[in-house]
Amino acid sequence: MPLRNIVVFGATSAIAQEALREFVQRGASVYCVGRNPEKLSAVMSDLRVRAGPGQTIEGQAADLLDATGHPVLIAAARAALGEVDAVLIAHGTLPDQAECEASVERTLTAIAENGTSVVSLLTVAANEFAARGSGTIAAISSVAGDRGRQSNYVYGASKSLVTTFMQGLRNRLAPKGVQVVTIKPGFIDTPMTAAFPKSGLLWTSAQRAGRAVADAMEKGRDVVYVPGYWFWIMTILRHVPERIFKKLRL
Ligand SMILES: NC(=O)c1ccc[n+]([C@@H]2O[C@H](COP(=O)([O-])OP(=O)(O)OC[C@H]3O[C@@H](n4cnc5c(N)ncnc54)[C@H](OP(=O)(O)O)[C@@H]3O)[C@@H](O)[C@H]2O)c1
Repeated sequence: MPLRNIVVFGATSAIAQEALREFVQRGASVYCVGRNPEKLSAVMSDLRVRAGPGQTIEGQAADLLDATGHPVLIAAARAALGEVDAVLIAHGTLPDQAECEASVERTLTAIAENGTSVVSLLTVAANEFAARGSGTIAAISSVAGDRGRQSNYVYGASKSLVTTFMQGLRNRLAPKGVQVVTIKPGFIDTPMTAAFPKSGLLWTSAQRAGRAVADAMEKGRDVVYVPGYWFWIMTILRHVPERIFKKLRL
């Protein structure tokens, strides 16, 4: 079903920018929330050039670590768009695992950036859509949440929180006509992964990921791996017995 009025949190993310372009090209109005005002302004200017008459492109800057501001942001989006029929939560960080191991504070901040701030937005959106009896709520989790690995388990645990929380939310909201869409990308070429070598076959562009996010939301899918072959990779990885898995250098 085409989505008409969409709020995107973390709108300056490379994947979110591509999803926003898809939505605007498909005729939607959007409300963009990003942390960096200059980047956000550039994103909205680009979208306005692509938008047709009658499409609204609005937004505001906000640090999403401040959960007290989340209800206000959704209310501002509703005021700007008239009605909100979909929310995409895309913000996140890739913390340095070694730094997290050395610092409880860094670990808890990473979990707030990738986990609890998303849970807060999901809760606010869920209650709003449940009361109305319709809507689509999507968030970008990760394949990293499917199994903890030594190289990134703080990030992975935050994404597991998001994935499991959304699973419960989907179960709660299905009878109320609200779609809950969990996006699990694999390796996507974005600023987040700038430091990684990109030579392998498993890398995908932000543009392809953004289109997959828009398609998944419009189709009201439940859980989507991006690209789809990550479903098979993670199914195999999840089934490696723990006594073997714990000895692997992953
Ligand atoms: N790239 C991958 O391989 C990959 C794989 C799996 C999942 N993901 C997930 O995909 C999503 C999008 O990431 P990306 O790859 O597009 O990376 P990206 O371009 O680096 O985007 C991350 C975005 O999150 C924003 N952000 C971080 N903390 C924030 C906060 N407290 N408040 C508001 N915004 C905040 C950043 O804003 P600033 O510009 O202000 O820093 C940035 O725009 C993330 O959830 C990420 O975990 C990515």
